[in-house]
Amino acid sequence: MVIVLFHYKNDGMNFLQWQQYFLGNRDHFDHLEWKDCQTLTAQEKQNISQSVRQFQRGEHSEGKHFLQFAQRMQDTSYIETVKLFIKEEQDHAAILGKFMEGEGIPKLGRDWLDSIFRRLRKLAGLEGSVTVLLTAEIIAMVYYKALFNATRSAILKQICLQVLKDEEMHLRFQSYTLECLYKRKAGFTLIFSGTVHYLLMAGTILMVWLWHYKVLRSGGYSFQQYAGDVWKEFIHCRHMMTGKSANQPTYGMGKQLTSQSNWRA
Ligand SMILES: [Fe+2]
Ligand SMILES: [Fe+2]
Repeated sequence: MVIVLFHYKNDGMNFLQWQQYFLGNRDHFDHLEWKDCQTLTAQEKQNISQSVRQFQRGEHSEGKHFLQFAQRMQDTSYIETVKLFIKEEQDHAAILGKFMEGEGIPKLGRDWLDSIFRRLRKLAGLEGSVTVLLTAEIIAMVYYKALFNATRSAILKQICLQVLKDEEMHLRFQSYTLECLYKRKAGFTLIFSGTVHYLLMAGTILMVWLWHYKVLRSGGYSFQQYAGDVWKEFIHCRHMMTGKSANQPTYGMGKQLTSQSNWRA
């Protein structure tokens, strides 16, 4: 079945503008200064290794199903934007992989939490895929702040900063996509979608804390702070996708980075 796509415009960018944004961001990691390998202390390595392996695994995807769902939408600028988005996520995985290689941290072959997310993304069409991706990216906005605060490695801090900048735009991009999809839905199905998203977010907050609390704690988060900051990001995205607020970044939201007063600059 072919679905005719939306050419919807809101306060933010349309898909052609999103395509331009991703094209302009292709050199996002060119500024990194790779000086030394082995930049982590033994304690830092112990605290973050397993967690970073799982996040690196989660960042990498061929995006085949996502692209297939996107192609049904018959909007060339959206399809091209999705391709660029997938490449940007692959860059996150590649850069984390390069860092791990320098530190002697082996890559993870398979991870059950990551497998659950991948299965969920395949099951539920474009809206489901974007919802699951967005849920993971909301977590990433807090996780990479914690990782930044949990290390004194200059290169890892630079990586975290760039990933945070990228992910913030991803939140806006996915929220815009969902806003467009929601415009085509009836009231009852909208309530159902919203309920599923709230439940998915709540469950993901708990699971990620259980598996990644070492990094989150090392980064200065208690469970309440972590859950509170994730929830603020989530509510902001829900407001963007339901048209309650403009599609804008979440300046100043949640915990700040310990040694970077204005990381969005
Ligand atoms: Fe990412
Ligand atoms: Fe992302």
